[in-house]
Amino acid sequence: MSSRILFKDRTVVITGASGGIGKAIALQLASYGARTFLLSRNVTVLQQIKEEIESLNGISEIIQCDVSNIDEVRRAGEKIREISGGADILITCAGKYVQDNSSLLDMEAFHDSISVNFFGTLNIIHSLLPQMKERRKGHITIINSLDSGKGIVGDGPYVAAKSALDGFGDVLRQEMKQFGIRVTSVYPGRVDTPMIESIKVPSISAKIKPDKVAKAVLKGIRKNRALVIVPATLSFIPVLNKIAPVMMDKLYRLFRLEGEVIK
Ligand SMILES: NC(=O)c1ccc[n+]([C@@H]2O[C@H](COP(=O)([O-])OP(=O)(O)OC[C@H]3O[C@@H](n4cnc5c(N)ncnc54)[C@H](OP(=O)(O)O)[C@@H]3O)[C@@H](O)[C@H]2O)c1
Repeated sequence: MSSRILFKDRTVVITGASGGIGKAIALQLASYGARTFLLSRNVTVLQQIKEEIESLNGISEIIQCDVSNIDEVRRAGEKIREISGGADILITCAGKYVQDNSSLLDMEAFHDSISVNFFGTLNIIHSLLPQMKERRKGHITIINSLDSGKGIVGDGPYVAAKSALDGFGDVLRQEMKQFGIRVTSVYPGRVDTPMIESIKVPSISAKIKPDKVAKAVLKGIRKNRALVIVPATLSFIPVLNKIAPVMMDKLYRLFRLEGEVIK
């Protein structure tokens, strides 16, 4: 089925829609005629994206919402049900890059990362899942990170939260099958967005454009893929890390894949 047929008039909820990947997904969906609900904390930016979508003759609604706040997420879910009867597709894109050298074990950093990256994702799924189950259809796409397949030095809090999400997504996909709900987990490598703008990465892990990730996300939904790794050339990383983690540690050290913070 073509994207135009699949996404036309579908209600798609996107968290983290004010940022690089979420915004790119929202704009591509608008061009296919989807009705998008854009969620994030920054309504000023969301309003600008809504106007950009409307200039393309698309329809979108914005909802201010901190995904780590369960009450705000519940209210957002109720509003989506009131306006459109529920979500056909949910794309959880809200995320925060929280670093800490684990020798310091900054507990606040770990709580912060788990609260946004892990519980922030669970909160919105929890809010929209009952209605998907009632209708016995829906598609949930979780934007994870390739870092959950191979941890990067200094990224303990971020990797911990994304790894938890990796396990959860794997279970959710299997458990939702009986309700006709599909689940896709997406694992981007480095992406050129505000999230990592202060990090200079080696050319071997060059940042890809958010549009490329958005395209892979929509293809993953269309083809009902369980997993999407983007760019696909990096698909070997999680597999090789399970078989030969120490060799992978050496490769990551050799190529300095943690990158360098630009002051
Ligand atoms: N960039 C990369 O290299 C990369 C690689 C792999 C995976 N990812 C993942 O891709 C997703 C999107 O990241 P991005 O690269 O597009 O980053 P980004 O440009 O920084 O966007 C992050 C988005 O998350 C939203 N957000 C952050 N905290 C939130 C909260 N508490 N409640 C609601 N929304 C919140 C931000 O909106 P507000 O500030 O308006 O709330 C923003 O829309 C994230 O899950 C990230 O982990 C990124």
